[in-house]
Amino acid sequence: MVSAQSLDGYILAHIGEEHPYLHRLWRESNLHLVHGYMVSGHLQGKLLRMLVHMVRPSLILEIGTYTGYSALSMASALPEGGRILTYEINDELEDFTRPRIERSPWAARVDFRVGDVLADLPREIPDGSCPLDMVFLDGNKRQYVDYYELSLKYLRPGGFILADNTLWDGHVVDAAYDKDAQTLGVRRFNDVVAADGRVEKVILPLRDGLTLIRKI
Ligand SMILES: C[S@@+](CC[C@H](N)C(=O)[O-])C[C@H]1O[C@@H](n2cnc3c(N)ncnc32)[C@H](O)[C@@H]1O
Repeated sequence: MVSAQSLDGYILAHIGEEHPYLHRLWRESNLHLVHGYMVSGHLQGKLLRMLVHMVRPSLILEIGTYTGYSALSMASALPEGGRILTYEINDELEDFTRPRIERSPWAARVDFRVGDVLADLPREIPDGSCPLDMVFLDGNKRQYVDYYELSLKYLRPGGFILADNTLWDGHVVDAAYDKDAQTLGVRRFNDVVAADGRVEKVILPLRDGLTLIRKI
């Protein structure tokens, strides 16, 4: 029987090196912060980079910066002139995250905002315009449906939403989590997306589940 752990090691050994700047950021996040496990890490960072290379977005929105690992992974693959707008609601993270974004090789492509995306984004983008090419949705699981509606409103037709943690460690199918607010938030999101005729969707069972959604 092959263990998931040995397969994880095998995958990591066959996807190329992690950029040294991202590796240091991952280490520092895990050393200095209580919730270091929330950082995307090498495998997901590589996937995000690959998707950005494929889609070649001019403007990405990220919901949930944390320490900037996923934002910088995506920024590293942006085409000339591309930009990522990333929101973090927890202002206590700013002292950690802002200098690490600003000192990075991709700083010029990243616009880091501290605030609640649900309140702040509508003030940033004029009603009726759809400038977003891609959204990485990785905030509070209880609010996924709200982020989804917000993202769809400003996403161009043909644009993509990538939603992280949509299998929530398997809790989406585990009755023991029927009263857990985060599990209920993720399940509600998955149900809304599944029934939504405005989009095409597929769930990748990578890490904690990543849903790829295309606005028709
Ligand atoms: C899982 S972490 C993000 C990890 C990061 N994207 C990465 O992969 O390295 C989720 C973050 O979303 C932030 N967040 C939660 N609700 C938010 C909101 N409404 N607006 C902006 N950020 C939010 C949290 O404070 C937390 O730092």
